[in-house]
Amino acid sequence: MIPFSKPDINKQDLKRVENTIKSGWLAHGENSTKLENLFLNFTKSKFCTTVSNCTTGIHAVCMAIGLNSDHEVIVPAQTHVATAHAAAITGAKIKFADVNDLTGNIMLSEIKKLTTKKTKCIIVVHMAGYSCEMGKIVKFCKKNNIFLIEDCAHGLGTMYKKKHVGNFGIAGIFSFYPTKQITTGEGGVVITNNRNLINKVKIIKSIGLNTPPEKRKIQGLYDVTDLGLNYRLTDFQAALAIGQMIRYNKNLKKRRENAKYYIEKIKKIKELKIQNFDKKHSYFILQVFFKSKKVRNKILLKFKEQGIGCSIHYATPVPLMSYYKKKYRLNKKNFVNSVKYGENSISLPTHPFIKKKMINTILKVIEKNL
Ligand SMILES: Cc1ncc(COP(=O)(O)O)c(C=O)c1O
Repeated sequence: MIPFSKPDINKQDLKRVENTIKSGWLAHGENSTKLENLFLNFTKSKFCTTVSNCTTGIHAVCMAIGLNSDHEVIVPAQTHVATAHAAAITGAKIKFADVNDLTGNIMLSEIKKLTTKKTKCIIVVHMAGYSCEMGKIVKFCKKNNIFLIEDCAHGLGTMYKKKHVGNFGIAGIFSFYPTKQITTGEGGVVITNNRNLINKVKIIKSIGLNTPPEKRKIQGLYDVTDLGLNYRLTDFQAALAIGQMIRYNKNLKKRRENAKYYIEKIKKIKELKIQNFDKKHSYFILQVFFKSKKVRNKILLKFKEQGIGCSIHYATPVPLMSYYKKKYRLNKKNFVNSVKYGENSISLPTHPFIKKKMINTILKVIEKNL
């Protein structure tokens, strides 16, 4: 058995969770603050707040920038549906941009085609942990007065020109889902360099209350200043992530080593395609491309038979999923690269528990079945 993902959780992490639960202080606690500080230190961002997951974090940011049904939002066609849904729930219209066929990332050329006077926001996704072309995209957004949100669900550890992703627009949102680089089961954080934005997100994630319990002068007394929902992370979940975050540099180093080893070998197999190694990539996963969907699917079956964990990110582009396809009458002709990416790729495991021997086994199965 080779697992697709395996959380890096040790005895100390479990003890921290146990102590938090035993303390009786289960929400709004100091572990969230500690985790936020670790994130600030790692990403060099100015502000951070924990959220119940990345989807709710994106939604809270969309609410905070005032997104509504008068607006349009551009998102990549190749992403998790959460990227689009989190914006669509505000009533805004979603416009899907085709992606680069190798990186899976949104392209400025497509963004330009979709931009109108109603475009309020662009949400980029650093697919698999490979940074989008932030230089060009930031410049375009500034020039056109468009908010830029970074969906960093795959991007913990991803750098673009010496700056951690999540720092290029109004906010970056990370996911702590179990397959992600660090996990709290469900969970996430929002980072930003904008004080106004973080204050708004903190209120939105706490049902619109103006003061959290620890800041109330009189217990039980607070006002409600905004519309909001409950998007908070529990404090025992935050406790689980602290050790993982402290150790994250080691985790990232191992992911990059694994990716480098895979890539050197895959480059020698002429039937396969893969991106060059990039030491700024988080290597959340590693995308390998096959000649056809038929070959790709055959390998997926062989992996299943042999207990090799893998996945597809993402088999169906979001605009071709029934909800959006029907809503906007979309056609696959407009998403050629996204379709190809979803049909021909497999996401291989890169996590720190993957050994060279396992990589060799995975590659042997691939080569035998090409
Ligand atoms: C690109 C992307 N965005 C958003 C999400 C949603 O994250 P969460 O499950 O934390 O809500 C995911 C989840 O895997 C994702 O891959």
